[in-house]
Amino acid sequence: MKIAIVGATGEVGRMMLDCLQDFDIIPEEIALFASHKSAGTTLYFADRPVVVQELSEQAFDKFYDYVFFAAGGGIALAYAPLARKNSTLVIDNSSAYREDKDALLVIPQVNGDLLKNYTGIVANPNCSTIQMLLPLAVLDKAFTLRQVVVSTYQSVSGSGHTGVETLEKQRAGSKDKGIYPEIIDLNIIPHIGVFYDDGYSAEEHKMRNETRRILRNDEIAVCATTVRVPVYYGHCNSVYCQFEKKVDLALAAELLKDAEAIDFKENSYMTPLALGFSNLAHVSRLRQAVDDLSLCFWNVGHNVRIGAAANAVSILKTHLELQGD
Ligand SMILES: NC(=O)c1ccc[n+]([C@@H]2O[C@H](COP(=O)([O-])OP(=O)(O)OC[C@H]3O[C@@H](n4cnc5c(N)ncnc54)[C@H](OP(=O)(O)O)[C@@H]3O)[C@@H](O)[C@H]2O)c1
Repeated sequence: MKIAIVGATGEVGRMMLDCLQDFDIIPEEIALFASHKSAGTTLYFADRPVVVQELSEQAFDKFYDYVFFAAGGGIALAYAPLARKNSTLVIDNSSAYREDKDALLVIPQVNGDLLKNYTGIVANPNCSTIQMLLPLAVLDKAFTLRQVVVSTYQSVSGSGHTGVETLEKQRAGSKDKGIYPEIIDLNIIPHIGVFYDDGYSAEEHKMRNETRRILRNDEIAVCATTVRVPVYYGHCNSVYCQFEKKVDLALAAELLKDAEAIDFKENSYMTPLALGFSNLAHVSRLRQAVDDLSLCFWNVGHNVRIGAAANAVSILKTHLELQGD
């Protein structure tokens, strides 16, 4: 198998190298691309040194089975169509193709069936949305989801490595706001992405649109408030969800306990610091909400892993498995 990673030196790209190994995907050839700034850097994959190359159109003259993009929407829009011509699957982490009907939007445990016999571009969903939809898809199957109200607590690594550097500098005393609209250190900023005329931010729109697309139900009402917090890694969601059918709390807990890619805690809870390198969506504090049609839970995930690299590699793995069927 031949794999290429565009944006290999970034938060997601570097984690992709770890996740490929976690998922036992060791290709015979791996090519790493970044901008001219990082070209020549040596990264290690499975103890082998790999020199990062500068991305160019010629990169895709060569065939790769799988090409991962983790370099932002602009690069994906410019280069993914070229990569697509000469590869089996292109998996993009940006939001560029998430609403494109010619591309797929996939969380393998939820709608991985779409990958069977598919070649083309697959968009990796938004990070907070992936960790939220893993449990919501399980509950939707049992009780039919009607409405979600979610508040997020999103770490600075969600803005890429510059987000991490911005918080590090402010922790050391800098008063420069860096990439954020306000100082993030010791603060909380309810503003991720541009604001639209309806008062919601781009990140909040993503959570609504992607939930509907992945759960294949445009009727689901989603009200998201997305918030940046001074945490380095790990996103949290406080989720309220309402269903069409009466909810059986004990059954909901059983289903979540047995579900793939979910860690369900009955008598304790997860925090970003305790996440380590988890590839799971963590669910805790499950409880009845305002009536017997509704539930609340606390949801934590490593944004660079389950929210990006682990889901992307899991798309590759599921695609491979389905072609064997
Ligand atoms: N971080 C997260 O939690 C997360 C979660 C889900 C999705 N995503 C998405 O994943 C993508 C990558 O995010 P990130 O957090 O990894 O960002 P990042 O840490 O800023 O890394 C960006 C990567 O893109 C490369 N790049 C920048 N300009 C380039 C160019 N002109 N040509 C080729 N490569 C270029 C950078 O290479 P250099 O080293 O050369 O600058 C670096 O490898 C974004 O679309 C982001 O929205 C991120």
